[in-house]
Amino acid sequence: MRVLVTGGAGYIGSHTAVVLLQAGHEVVILDNFANAERDVPERIAAVAGRAAGLEEADVTDAAALARVFARFRPEGVIHFAGLKAVGEAAEVPLEYYRVNVAGSLTLMQAMAAAGCMRLVFSSSATVYGEPDAIPIPETHPLRPTNPYGWSKRMVEQIVEDWGRALPGLGAVTLRYFNPVGAHPSALIGEAPRGTPNNLMPFVAQVAAGLRPRVSVFGDDYDTPDGTGLRDYIHVMDLAEAHLAALDLAAAGPGVQALNVGTGRGCSVLEMIRAFETASGRAIAFGITARRPGDVAVSLADPALMRQRTGWAARRDLAAMCADAWRWQSRQS
Ligand code: UFG
Repeated sequence: MRVLVTGGAGYIGSHTAVVLLQAGHEVVILDNFANAERDVPERIAAVAGRAAGLEEADVTDAAALARVFARFRPEGVIHFAGLKAVGEAAEVPLEYYRVNVAGSLTLMQAMAAAGCMRLVFSSSATVYGEPDAIPIPETHPLRPTNPYGWSKRMVEQIVEDWGRALPGLGAVTLRYFNPVGAHPSALIGEAPRGTPNNLMPFVAQVAAGLRPRVSVFGDDYDTPDGTGLRDYIHVMDLAEAHLAALDLAAAGPGVQALNVGTGRGCSVLEMIRAFETASGRAIAFGITARRPGDVAVSLADPALMRQRTGWAARRDLAAMCADAWRWQSRQS
């Protein structure tokens, strides 16, 4: 298939581009490099053994999208391009809605104009908000607690409504839990700018001696060791989930939302210990106050994704930490 990957130079997009290329798809990446390094497309080519096309443009740029659709004639689109910092979203909500919601709309309009009816959208488990039940099934109520989560939920709604109006549309919105790790080649990975917001990249930088210690945000949650429990998923498993979702979108019309997680929980302290083992380094940490907005537990029920696509996560916590450490060790 000819596949347009928006945000394809980003963290999850770059790993997905590799998996698509290796599966034999033709890929064009559209990225504005707002949160990606310039050499990522070359690195993707080095890992995959062949290159993706590149269009440097913003997903909110309708003229650029029209050009890509005219030239490349994509049969499917995987849409990652967007802003993703939960804290920043609360400070500049209009910018988040402009890029994430208006950008997605512009893309869908370009798809509609070109007759492209296969879409995989990058959503997030954050659309569930505070969970009523664990593990979280797709039928759980949707009540995001911040503008980032709302931007994802709004796009899901737009895709659902588009599917009702256009019965030929095949669309899958993937609700990711906590993506971590890197490609085992260590040629691509997550390169946060400034202080990492997320646990794994922060732990990796402490192991590398770049930061003194990890702040563990609360040890008084209702969990076995009192620290937050999350469903971490290896980014390569997540990339493979996109390949499966694209096949599902191409297999027939309909709009579906699917969880992408492992269904297994890992606490902050377990993550630190696993990373110590993977890196062979001691990782200093201290307990601090809870981070506002954090929930105690977030765990996927991944059964529906498996049932619909046959996909299931294969890589364990040790592989997530080993691959993240190899990537971190190659950074200057
Ligand atoms: N944590 C720490 N110290 C840190 C960073 C995180 O103790 O320095 C803890 C958090 O309190 C939480 C766990 O580690 O218990 C995981 O935190 P992350 O920031 O790595 O991930 P979140 O679950 O908070 O957020 C992720 C994505 C968001 C998404 C959210 C809900 O980063 O984009 O899941 O799906 F919105």
